[in-house]
Amino acid sequence: MAKTPKTYHVKSFGCQMNVYDGERMSELMAEQGLSAAASAEEADLVVLNTCHIREKATEKVYSDIGRLRKGGRKPMIAVAGCVAQAEGEEIVRRAQVDVVVGPQAYHNLPKLVADAAGGKAALDTDMPLASKFGALPARRRVAPGAFLTVQEGCDKFCTYCVVPYTRGAEVSRPFAAIVDEARALVDAGAREITLLGQNVNAWADEDGRGLDALIRDLDRIEGLARIRYTTSHPNDMTQRLIDAHRDVEKLMPYLHLPVQSGNDRVLKAMNRSHSRDSYLRILDRVREARPDIALSGDFIVGFPGETDAEFEDTLRLVDEVRYSQAFSFKYSPRPGTPAAEMDGAVPRGVMDERLQRLQAALNRDQAAFNEATVGKTCDVLIERRGKHPGQMLGKSPWLQSVHLATDAQIGDMVTVDIERAGPNSLAGVERVKAAA
Ligand code: SAH
Ligand code: SF4
Ligand code: F3S
Repeated sequence: MAKTPKTYHVKSFGCQMNVYDGERMSELMAEQGLSAAASAEEADLVVLNTCHIREKATEKVYSDIGRLRKGGRKPMIAVAGCVAQAEGEEIVRRAQVDVVVGPQAYHNLPKLVADAAGGKAALDTDMPLASKFGALPARRRVAPGAFLTVQEGCDKFCTYCVVPYTRGAEVSRPFAAIVDEARALVDAGAREITLLGQNVNAWADEDGRGLDALIRDLDRIEGLARIRYTTSHPNDMTQRLIDAHRDVEKLMPYLHLPVQSGNDRVLKAMNRSHSRDSYLRILDRVREARPDIALSGDFIVGFPGETDAEFEDTLRLVDEVRYSQAFSFKYSPRPGTPAAEMDGAVPRGVMDERLQRLQAALNRDQAAFNEATVGKTCDVLIERRGKHPGQMLGKSPWLQSVHLATDAQIGDMVTVDIERAGPNSLAGVERVKAAA
């Protein structure tokens, strides 16, 4: 039986929504009077906030649990996140963890921890109708770039994906609750807010307002300098949202719009419900509204039955779009999804080769995009200290990392002349302000 913990550590894997959830769980534990441990190895309670998206991500949980128990240490272990939702009881059987809590139930973490300390089984993977958000403590101290979950879940059911099962149906938080939390984040130190959702652009409220209306409202918050949102689905990319990219100055010129494949047969087998062409036409309209927009995407190679020629279509799409940055993955069969039952598994070697070729093309475009930023002057939001004394790191409007020498502090916005570009970052010098 684990004893009542005094210190905690939350470790998040997977997407940004898990990062957000991890912060909220930390706030919950702090509210209970627990203090933050310096590391997972020193904590009485370790919350593993897990990801189920690919097999590797899931296996990480079990190797982490093993590592935490090395040398006979016995911290209380809580498994949260998408693996908790997907595997439930199975995790207790396989790894004898103390607490299992799903992404829609983590507001109950204090009770579950108390139950576990009292020797009771502590498992909660309910997806209650009432949202967890009302039961979470107020936001206190946050980074200059803060996350804010506005929408959760997914109704799209792409055939390869576990998210509709682990996160449940699409649910939008109410307008007012989001605006309140945004204000609280700004009061707590945020200068930039990234609105999060598994399909963030599917956000809608009872009055028929969409994400564009929310963004236009947040635009009015004094002290908030930047707005971003992620991840979007092509089918929810309304003209009104595209127009917001033209009109709202605080909305940053960056769009993450996953496509997964550049071939229509594969897209159909994936149940993506957009075509190569409809996707490209959306990007045309986005670029028309905001010509300097940086585009990002997600790709899967080696979906069951994907032929060489079909993969070449993906490479051609990349050549056409010229992403500023993108994520690419080898297809991973996930238990319970339709694609896991499909014939035509692509051999591992072929999959590796396709991923390499795709990543080479994406890296080429990322380097070119960074190179094209050299000579521009832009705002940089300072987020953290660099490795060298006096060096600070921040983000450009196009989400590139920028390092520079400056006296500016974390949270400051500085104007920077971009002088050099590397594959993954930029370097620049601060514009000296004219004396007032
Ligand atoms: N809701 C978002 C992101 C979902 S998960 C969207 O629809 O775009 C993030 C990415 O993981 C996906 O875009 C996809 O590229 C990848 N992914 C999801 N399931 C996968 C699987 N079974 N194998 C490999 N990659 C996967
Ligand atoms: Fe998964 Fe598709 Fe939903 Fe994205 S849209 S979360 S890839 S099912
Ligand atoms: Fe992973 Fe769940 Fe996010 S499966 S990607 S943590 S929604």
